[in-house]
Amino acid sequence: MSGNAENIVLSVSGVGKTYAQPVLAGVDLHLVRGEVLALTGENGAGKSTLSKIIGGLEVPTTGQMHYQGQPYAPVSRKAAEALGVRMVMQELNLLPTLSVAENLFLHNLPSRGGWIDRRKLREAAIQAMEQVGLQAIDPDTLVSELGIGHQQMVEIARNLIGDCHVLILDEPTAMLTSREVEMLFEQITRLRARGVAIVYISHRLEELARVAQRIAVLRDGQLVAVEPMARYDSAQLVTLMVGRELGEQIDLGERRMGAPLLKVDRLCRAGKVEDVSFEVRAGEIYGISGLIGAGRTELLRLIYGADRADSGTVAVGLPPQPVRIQSPADAVRHGIALITEDRKGEGLLLSQSIAGNLALGNMPAISRGGLVDGKAEHALARRQVAAMRIRSSSTEQRVGELSGGNQQKVVIGRWLERDCQVMLFDEPTRGIDVGAKFDIYALLGELTRQGKALVVVSSDLRELMLICDRIGVLSAGRLVETFQRDSWTQDELLAAAFAGYTRRDALVDAPAPRNQA
Ligand SMILES: Nc1ncnc2c1ncn2[C@@H]1O[C@H](COP(=O)(O)OP(=O)(O)OP(=O)(O)O)[C@@H](O)[C@H]1O
Ligand SMILES: [Mg+2]
Repeated sequence: MSGNAENIVLSVSGVGKTYAQPVLAGVDLHLVRGEVLALTGENGAGKSTLSKIIGGLEVPTTGQMHYQGQPYAPVSRKAAEALGVRMVMQELNLLPTLSVAENLFLHNLPSRGGWIDRRKLREAAIQAMEQVGLQAIDPDTLVSELGIGHQQMVEIARNLIGDCHVLILDEPTAMLTSREVEMLFEQITRLRARGVAIVYISHRLEELARVAQRIAVLRDGQLVAVEPMARYDSAQLVTLMVGRELGEQIDLGERRMGAPLLKVDRLCRAGKVEDVSFEVRAGEIYGISGLIGAGRTELLRLIYGADRADSGTVAVGLPPQPVRIQSPADAVRHGIALITEDRKGEGLLLSQSIAGNLALGNMPAISRGGLVDGKAEHALARRQVAAMRIRSSSTEQRVGELSGGNQQKVVIGRWLERDCQVMLFDEPTRGIDVGAKFDIYALLGELTRQGKALVVVSSDLRELMLICDRIGVLSAGRLVETFQRDSWTQDELLAAAFAGYTRRDALVDAPAPRNQA
């Protein structure tokens, strides 16, 4: 199906990219009408770089491209889009201070007599949002008011508008739960039928197996395989992607669970979190599952003092003592850390070095008499870069230059040296490749052996089932059920996630409550 010359929409030959070092070399690839090509490989393998070259965001150092039979060398993303080559980027690129509708039609605002035609804009936006199942969201909502999962859906919707022959999806589902993923897949089926060639980048194997007809694997900037998808089962796929075999199970090592260390009692924040109580013991991994908008991130933010609770208490220590947490600084002082999912928004300073970012969370450890001790700073950076296997040219490399997965590792690494007894993780393996995920699981195991209490929010149920001792399910802001290890099934966990919604609510995915009238 992929050989037919007239079906080839875009071809890449001998494409390479060199920054300080080569990151992509000699890539030959073609994209076929109506076909989904899975593009995989470890963090830093070059997937986003290749996508950006096709999408007009980066200029290749070597090689040529052809598009619809013509030489193709887009000078900008806009130029590529004008030709029908579109890309949903790994990092969200929405403008938070603009509305959903404005973001959707940023470059193509409908106007009448020089004014923006608000009514037309609204209608077009509703239509676009319907395609991704977000019709429940008011298009006038500011993007900053949406959760990060919904923002990702808006980014996808933005790229489904208009003429498109090549669509690149760079980890489109990193922040989506299974139901949103289904909606995206419906759109992909529709686009395929229209003859669009799709490149689908993801670290989620089961998605690749479902959605793609061919798979291309990058390793260290080189294409090591391009094959029909059907040729591989999932274990073989992992080996192909990672270059080594990985087990299905994870051994978190010998662990002993202690007494309760964190006690959350009747925590409330109007419209987001309703009356949530739970305990986590020293050495325990407590998972939190639920749909987008169920209040998972909000709950962590309340415990961490990033948002104020209306009522309820948080207690920490052995035994837990109630603490007053009114800001993240209070939380950290009481030994509570939050490792966030939004690395761009909250986690990282992209223009700063890896060492600088790691230092930021660890000032007490690396300063002497109020001054940063450069030696200590570098020792810390080297330790974390090695421990987390952060792929970089040096500890001085700007974090903005790292691949998505490696940025995430910096976020996590920053907190590992702090003396926090309670660690809250929000989607810790988002964007992390299959092999590195296991490194992170092992690391979580190590933290529990130090007697810490861990709370892990993840959209990946299988991940939670793999690593957690218990899983609490949030639904519409309430903790509806808690499961013990070995007494859960995926179906039960899913059913619980829907339990808090009335049927209609569930269909519209519990939109974020309106802040303004
Ligand atoms: N602007 C830049 N300057 C220097 N190096 C860069 C720059 N952009 C990317 N790189 C490097 O290129 C390599 C490939 O990065 P890329 O983002 O393409 O990886 P990726 O396969 O998308 O990884 P991930 O799965 O983590 O998203 C990385 O080693 C990265 O550090
Ligand atoms: Mg990437």
